[in-house]
Amino acid sequence: MAPTKEQILDRLAAVAAPDGRKLTDAGVLSDIVVGDGKVFFSLSVDAAAVKAWEPVRKQAEEAVRAVPGVTSAMIALTAERAGGGQGARPAPAPAAGGARPHGHAPAGPSGVPGVKHIIAVASGKGGVGKSTTAINLALGLRDVGLKVGVLDADIYGPSLPKLLAIREKPQTIGGTRLKPIERYGLTVMSIGFLIEEETPMIWRGPMVMSALTQMLREVAWGEIDVMVVDMPPGTGDAQLTMAQQVPLAGAIIVSTPQDLALIDARRGIAMFQRVNVPILGVVENMSYFLCPSCGARSDIFGHGGARHEAERLKVPFLGEVPLDMSIRETSDSGLPIVATQPDSAHAKIYRSIAENVRNALAGPGAARAAPNIVIEA
Ligand SMILES: Nc1ncnc2c1ncn2[C@@H]1O[C@H](COP(=O)(O)OP(=O)(O)O)[C@@H](O)[C@H]1O
Ligand SMILES: [Mg+2]
Repeated sequence: MAPTKEQILDRLAAVAAPDGRKLTDAGVLSDIVVGDGKVFFSLSVDAAAVKAWEPVRKQAEEAVRAVPGVTSAMIALTAERAGGGQGARPAPAPAAGGARPHGHAPAGPSGVPGVKHIIAVASGKGGVGKSTTAINLALGLRDVGLKVGVLDADIYGPSLPKLLAIREKPQTIGGTRLKPIERYGLTVMSIGFLIEEETPMIWRGPMVMSALTQMLREVAWGEIDVMVVDMPPGTGDAQLTMAQQVPLAGAIIVSTPQDLALIDARRGIAMFQRVNVPILGVVENMSYFLCPSCGARSDIFGHGGARHEAERLKVPFLGEVPLDMSIRETSDSGLPIVATQPDSAHAKIYRSIAENVRNALAGPGAARAAPNIVIEA
């Protein structure tokens, strides 16, 4: 028997909000999506009250799972009603001065079982091609013989559903853990698989943390050599969460050649260094443009900026990817170029970047930093 919304609401009425009211009377429930035994919804709460709500979220999840016919339940805390404006955003953890003695602390972050390395693909700002780089790099790592997972850590604007044209919802295993989705030999997970694209949701500090933690800990990742994490832009809560939750084997910074993007890239590099995450290297995206009709090359954003910056900051340079229509088209239509045009010049470029990354992971620095690599752009 498929569970109904009424059955779910019935159970939720037995869960108490922090102020003692019935959860169903607290005015925090989003629309409840029930499909095929899977239940998804969110609790929109005040950013300031998140701590008090987390146990309620858990109880609600357990209550929903107990409904006959429910195979999985995913309940997220969001701060839609954040009390207005910027002021409501919880301050990120103090990063200056090395908030987290990463890699050396006795009570450091524990790895994800089965996952050898976690790498973050990051960029200082959005739109530089971080997600496109992350997915093609992941495919390149697959091509050099590694078992690769991809975690979309962009809670605000998940990219994986589009990058891989994934519409299906993840199945659950035993009602508690989510089974990631397989595509092109990659094991992938994104919050975008769980929520509708139109859902207006503003995820803030602690909510980002709980969503990310769930995707790391409550997903059956299986045996994975490298987990590539597509990070949201910037140096905010998601970055700190990742750095605190899992031992990152390193970060890859994606930048365009322009000065402006480089300033952001520098900020990203500095942030990872502050939390002792090794920088595996810099990728220059949209590095140059080859005219498809005349073959002439133009350096639209000024070529080489990222390479010079990497040299200046003494971090490895991993490679340059041209600005090309076929990269944009394949990326935006869910047919990543390394998977669908493996013999193209562009696929070769991504594979060579992947080889550089694999070698960096095998290097002495990464070996010391151990179990996880996070790639953030
Ligand atoms: N090398 C490239 N050549 C052409 N288009 C690209 C390239 N890299 C990314 N794009 C396009 O630029 C846009 C932003 O890329 P995306 O990977 O989503 O960036 P980010 O994750 O940094 O926001 C997308 O439309 C993508 O297809
Ligand atoms: Mg992106």
